[in-house]
Amino acid sequence: MKDIYSAIKVSDNVYWVGAIDWTIRDFHGYTTPHGSTYNAYLIMADKITLIDTVKKPFKDEMLARIQSVVDPSKIEYIISNHSELDHSGCLPEVIDFIKPEKVFASTVGVKTLKELLHNAHEIIAVKDGETLSLGNMDVSFMETRMIHWPDSMFTYLAKDELLFSQDAFGMHLATLERFADEIPAATLEYEGATYYANIVLPYSAIVLKALEKVAASGLKIKIIAPDHGPVWRKDLGFILDLYKKWALQKPKAKAVVIYATMWHSTEKMAEAISESLAQSGIKTKLISMNETHRSEAAYEVLDAGALIIGSPTLNNNILPQMADVMTYLKGLKPANKIGAAFGSFGWSGESVKHLEEILKEMKVDLVTESIAVKNAPDSGVLEKCHDLGKIVAAELLKKVNN
Ligand code: FEO
Repeated sequence: MKDIYSAIKVSDNVYWVGAIDWTIRDFHGYTTPHGSTYNAYLIMADKITLIDTVKKPFKDEMLARIQSVVDPSKIEYIISNHSELDHSGCLPEVIDFIKPEKVFASTVGVKTLKELLHNAHEIIAVKDGETLSLGNMDVSFMETRMIHWPDSMFTYLAKDELLFSQDAFGMHLATLERFADEIPAATLEYEGATYYANIVLPYSAIVLKALEKVAASGLKIKIIAPDHGPVWRKDLGFILDLYKKWALQKPKAKAVVIYATMWHSTEKMAEAISESLAQSGIKTKLISMNETHRSEAAYEVLDAGALIIGSPTLNNNILPQMADVMTYLKGLKPANKIGAAFGSFGWSGESVKHLEEILKEMKVDLVTESIAVKNAPDSGVLEKCHDLGKIVAAELLKKVNN
């Protein structure tokens, strides 16, 4: 019987030979409700070359897709653009099976692969700007350190004007459609933004430099082939412009109110603040961490200009749901936000001070005094919350319109 898996032609000389992970729902703390793909690519040059591999359990799926084009033992080169295990987990087994002539990675990639996989295979370091002949065509390498690991690099195939971009321009989306132009634009924008917010955001300054480096290189790029999600072969400006926008993090007239609650006191305060923000013309998202995953909060924070956070006091601290999301958001380093804190307490009341400290560590500009209420908010406290919303809205509109 013919294998169920098949390669998909991406360009004159390149096939997609990756794997579709329909069931993954957690990617080191980032929830992936729509699964993912691990993209590997085959260049059918004189020296048949495999670009990246897949997560360990998907090795046979990748090999079957390769087999639909060529016997895997004919592969002479493997290039690892990114060492993270979703792209290298099966590399030692694949090397043993294929026995390629040479395996390449960036200088840092060589070290990282050794440290992660402890394999005995020799991996050859390639440098930024170096060109490698595949016989009848060449590939060149561009280091993209910290997008999003130190080892990360792009590989460019001039003959097909194709950029293999590893995690950059990717998304966690399991589909049988292999090209972005087969998927609705709203889905691409949502999934791409969610991926950027949860993976790439801390490295936004480096992303801007990389976009400039690619533009300055004069490389003709007709196709961008990332390591997750669909391949971009039409209107590349769509994803390139979005990356520029996400990386710049210009504040929008949007506020995100994130809270957790015990007995609904902090929740009532959050609702009063949110209503006020919306009434002042601010697009507002109210997120209860009692019900919401941290990844969704990260997605909403990406383009927000204001971050307002609330928690009751629990054992002299904040609620664990808030500690979780704020630890996560702090690590993602969102920039250019204003904010405020609020919360309720029964007796000691430390939560608001903790929240203020977190916002300060995140370099969020606190534009008004925090509100802390003992036990439940009365109408006077809710009015103060309403005023807090109005102050944040006014400050945000000033900032956005500057
Ligand atoms: Fe898709 Fe950073 O690995």
